[in-house]
Amino acid sequence: MRHLLKLLDLSKEEITDILNLGDQLKYENKHGIEHHLLKGKALGMIFEKASTRTRVSFEVGMYQLGGHALFLSGNELQIGRGEPVEDTARVLSRYLDGIMIRTFAQEEVEKLAEYGSIPVINALTDFAHPCQVLADLMTVREFKGKLEGLKMCFIGDGNNMMNSLIVGGLKMGMDVAVACPDGYHPADEVLEFAAAYPNFLMTDQPAEAAKGADVVITDVWTSMGQEEERKKREEAFAGYCIDDSLMSVANQDAMVLHCLPAHRGEEISAEVMEKNEKFIFEEAENRLHAQKAVLVTLMK
Ligand code: CP
Ligand code: NVA
Repeated sequence: MRHLLKLLDLSKEEITDILNLGDQLKYENKHGIEHHLLKGKALGMIFEKASTRTRVSFEVGMYQLGGHALFLSGNELQIGRGEPVEDTARVLSRYLDGIMIRTFAQEEVEKLAEYGSIPVINALTDFAHPCQVLADLMTVREFKGKLEGLKMCFIGDGNNMMNSLIVGGLKMGMDVAVACPDGYHPADEVLEFAAAYPNFLMTDQPAEAAKGADVVITDVWTSMGQEEERKKREEAFAGYCIDDSLMSVANQDAMVLHCLPAHRGEEISAEVMEKNEKFIFEEAENRLHAQKAVLVTLMK
């Protein structure tokens, strides 16, 4: 594994190795065992969108691994004034040991990897959010003891989260059901991948997707960069809220995950959010541990 650009590029074994290493690093971290596996290494973190969890967990992760992280705001880099990503990649490769990037187009991340000579990590594009989904899989495994054979459902927009959860869930042997309105389907590339799996279901009926689910997941209806569509989206997603009534058709011990930030009263009710806070905030913590596993795998 040279980069983490999207989960479509990873095998089941590679994902399992990251989850295992994430568990180990989490255990060591909780027991005060230091692991300076990236001593002397530097990670550049390019952000062209806002972030709380991703920025802090990557920066703290590099610190805990004995390395250094640089926050590089897209507006303040020459990239924001039109310097081609091909040139930025070749320059940054001469200073850094790895690049993490959060941006709009998946192509920008792929180009960074193509022209640079150091590992590139996708920290969210419009297409994918692989770091989040690795943390989500780690969290499900932590609470349920396995992934294989469990039913995951995602209710909402066919966005970066739905795309990555479909790929990650199916690769790891889960049944995956998604509910989204017409016009808000996941990416074609993801649907082509999922077409080979008889245990994949896409519907416009949230209750059909949630029926018998072990893990129920959602995300915002309006992602970063789509703010002008907010009103139209609120109308399109009416009826797609994870509330007590929808949860009554899931398995009795079903867990709810949300990558955060959450909009209570839109994609998730305040009640369901609070009932599941132990899962949702462990999921947020696991960003740190899963990403440290990615950093060590790519940069050591
Ligand atoms: N879930 C997630 O990626 O959060 P941030 O946008 O705060 O980084
Ligand atoms: N789908 C959301 C995820 C935020 C972590 C977005 O792209 O804004």
